Amino acid sequence: MKIQIINGPNLNLLGLREPGIYGSESFESYLPGLRAKFPDVEISYYQSNVEGELINKLQEVGFTFDGVVLNAGAYTHTSIALHDCVRALRCPVVEVHISNVHERESFRHHSYLSAVCKGVICGFGLQGYDLAIEGLTRKGTDR
Ligand code: DQA
Repeated sequence: MKIQIINGPNLNLLGLREPGIYGSESFESYLPGLRAKFPDVEISYYQSNVEGELINKLQEVGFTFDGVVLNAGAYTHTSIALHDCVRALRCPVVEVHISNVHERESFRHHSYLSAVCKGVICGFGLQGYDLAIEGLTRKGTDR
């Protein structure tokens, strides 16, 4: 099974950025443990601060991979282009947010992605990525 994790803008700063909200671990230090938990899954990782690059990566993997875990950062709340891209793909996409966006500012409460994703996980810190991969790989979850 092949799963692509895609992180959007400012998520390259995990560990440095607002640790009270996003924790003190970088994604690079978290990733080996995640891969070890799912030895049968090929987990690829991509991060970009650029909206069009996120779209390019989604288009690249979205017709051949088995799933995508997408934390689009602030583009979640702004991007119709990402919405259109996700709805065009063949593979399931799980929307992840490290923080609980619903307990934060109201501008974070709306997502352009949720309606076109298979599911949404937010508020569990980096563990949300584990949960998303668990959801994508567990047998018997197909609707
Ligand atoms: C985030 C939540 C977004 O509102 C914010 O813009 C981010 C990170 C999260 O993982 O909690 O950059 O997606």
